[in-house]
Amino acid sequence: MKTFFLSLSLLILNPAAVSGLTTSAQKACSLLHAALPKKVFFPGSQRYAADIFHFQLSSSQNSTCSVEPTTVSDVSTIMKIVGRDNVRSPFAIKSSGGHATNPGFSSTLGVQIAMTNFTDLTYDAAKQTVSIGPGLTWDQVYKQLDPLNITVVGGRVPGVGVGLVLGGGYSWVTNQYGLGVDNIVSLDMVLPNGTAVQVAENSHPDLFFAMKGGLNNFGIVTKFTLKAHSQPSIWGAVVNYGAEQNAAVIQALADFSVNNTEIKAQLAAAQVVTGPAPGWEVIFFYGQGNQMPAVYQPFFDIPATSASIVTSGSFSEFIALSTVLNPDPTAKGLSNVVPIVHYTVPVLDFIHEQLNATWLAGKAANKSFTSVLLGVEPFLDAFAHATPSAYEHSVARPVTPSNPWITWSDPADTAYAHAALRNMSDKIQAFAIQQGQSLATDLHYPNYALDDTPLNLLYGKNVQKLKAIKHAVDPKNVMGLAGGFKL
Ligand SMILES: Cc1cc2nc3c(=O)[nH]c(=O)nc-3n(C[C@H](O)[C@H](O)[C@H](O)COP(=O)(O)OP(=O)(O)OC[C@H]3O[C@@H](n4cnc5c(N)ncnc54)[C@H](O)[C@@H]3O)c2cc1C
Ligand SMILES: *[C@@H]1O[C@H](CO)[C@@H](O)[C@H](O)[C@H]1NC(C)=O
Ligand SMILES: *[C@@H]1O[C@H](CO)[C@@H](O)[C@H](O)[C@H]1NC(C)=O
Ligand SMILES: *[C@@H]1O[C@H](CO)[C@@H](O)[C@H](O)[C@H]1NC(C)=O
Ligand SMILES: *[C@@H]1O[C@H](CO)[C@@H](O)[C@H](O)[C@H]1NC(C)=O
Ligand SMILES: *[C@@H]1O[C@H](CO)[C@@H](O)[C@H](O)[C@H]1NC(C)=O
Ligand SMILES: *[C@@H]1O[C@H](CO)[C@@H](O)[C@H](O)[C@H]1NC(C)=O
Ligand SMILES: *[C@@H]1O[C@H](CO)[C@@H](O)[C@H](O)[C@H]1NC(C)=O
Ligand SMILES: *[C@@H]1O[C@H](CO)[C@@H](O)[C@H](O)[C@H]1NC(C)=O
Repeated sequence: MKTFFLSLSLLILNPAAVSGLTTSAQKACSLLHAALPKKVFFPGSQRYAADIFHFQLSSSQNSTCSVEPTTVSDVSTIMKIVGRDNVRSPFAIKSSGGHATNPGFSSTLGVQIAMTNFTDLTYDAAKQTVSIGPGLTWDQVYKQLDPLNITVVGGRVPGVGVGLVLGGGYSWVTNQYGLGVDNIVSLDMVLPNGTAVQVAENSHPDLFFAMKGGLNNFGIVTKFTLKAHSQPSIWGAVVNYGAEQNAAVIQALADFSVNNTEIKAQLAAAQVVTGPAPGWEVIFFYGQGNQMPAVYQPFFDIPATSASIVTSGSFSEFIALSTVLNPDPTAKGLSNVVPIVHYTVPVLDFIHEQLNATWLAGKAANKSFTSVLLGVEPFLDAFAHATPSAYEHSVARPVTPSNPWITWSDPADTAYAHAALRNMSDKIQAFAIQQGQSLATDLHYPNYALDDTPLNLLYGKNVQKLKAIKHAVDPKNVMGLAGGFKL
């Protein structure tokens, strides 16, 4: 009697139970659990924790369940369940990277799809292609390609995943071979209706175009086939400079940005403010050889606080040097992009002032900022290999993606950090425009852009075409159940 009344009152207190309904996500999770019993995980399990994990904690969400497909047919099953008319559950697709910083782009309160178990890599020597699964991070890919003396256009620091190619893809060999999207030969994917197809220039030209920058709007990729490039040994270095060298480093960066003509020489620099007197960290890449190219000499004439150098190294040895672009993995963080043509001295001075000002304002407002930084990314002819892509990168407008970023520790400070990053980015772009180094209409790199970036600034004149392709391939808007920049 007592238990009867107890369960009756529980029933009454739980509106879902009363109406006999569960949320769409609960429904999807129980259907998935029935269909793929060993591949669905719930809060409390280790696999679940791994599946929802992101590089920046602020982009992880507690999904209702997670699922680890291991075959294309599993992916198809999952797609059909989340998209079923009487389910329509929110979901997210995450590679092994999980490096998206915008919450909801690869995280969800619904079904977290984790592509971690697609770890195949094959090299086709005859076709000069490499096929990789979305369960591999770029460092794992390079490790397997190094002994073959080949490489692909992928990420520049350890841990980043394949989403990089779906949003654009700036790599250490971008001067030489273009962006990741320009190096896609084909994509094996599962469409929103659950059908598996191989998408290539000749078979699905519209979808192929759309996937080159369109991120998670068109389906789930199970295999990426990319062009292989021969890769001799590498010279590279990571050098730190103290604040007293700011003027000298800024001058050297400006000279390099404007004057470099050595295509195999690429660098990425960051000023990272974590307290008073911020200095610089510069990562130098030289894609051939056993010695520093002359173009880097001005940097090596500046006294450094530390330097790690790899000579005649492999890609793996080189990228293992990088640390600055890898903040504390427990930190919260947001990234954004400011399109810039050349990093002139006035532009870099202004960036330095803005980083300082944003950091100091955050501290004055008692916000838990742990760093305010900007990645300076000069390229040379990065767009010379451009192929038709959703993310247009025309040689006629060679902007580079400078990468402002804020990290913090207290979740209560998220909205403030978002506003501070937006404000700082807009001020830097306004100054760059004034200096003739940016235009208000320049496209924003989708992989770096803050979530409030409007579609026309990501895809420009391609927006209408992309919406039409999206409507044709996904008439029921299943991919709209996943977060992100939505077409
Ligand atoms: C430390 C760090 C270093 C970085 N370095 C670089 C760099 O050198 N060059 C550069 O260009 N960018 C770089 N980025 C930006 C990077 O490109 C983006 O963060 C990108 O989203 C990372 O992809 P991911 O697969 O790791 O992320 P995820 O969060 O797993 O995915 C990112 C996006 O891709 C979608 N996606 C992932 N897998 C699939 C799939 N199989 N099918 C369909 N959609 C999928 C997700 O839904 C999401 O929209 C860096 C970012 C960080 C944090
Ligand atoms: C996926 O891979 C992980 C790590 O290797 C493993 O622990 C897990 O069991 C795999 N998941 C499935 C569904 O096989
Ligand atoms: C997610 O769940 C964990 C463990 O239960 C909890 O500590 C954390 O606060 C939750 N996060 C959010 C954003 O709800
Ligand atoms: C890769 O290059 C090294 C150094 O030039 C050489 O010794 C090795 O044989 C090459 N390996 C392959 C698979 O070509
Ligand atoms: C680039 O080279 C020119 C010619 O050598 C030189 O005058 C100039 O100072 C260099 N740096 C910049 C930023 O233009
Ligand atoms: C940045 O702030 C530091 C102190 O935190 C100061 O030493 C430096 O002069 C500032 N630079 C600029 C350009 O404001
Ligand atoms: C600053 O914020 C912390 C929490 O992050 C809080 O404990 C503290 O009271 C705040 N101090 C002031 C002066 O607002
Ligand atoms: C951002 O700018 C807006 C508009 O100028 C302002 O209201 C807001 O306080 C700023 N926020 C931060 C954190 O800088
Ligand atoms: C799934 O969508 C594709 C692309 O629109 C279409 O060609 C295919 O016929 C659809 N398959 C089914 C089973 O509806």
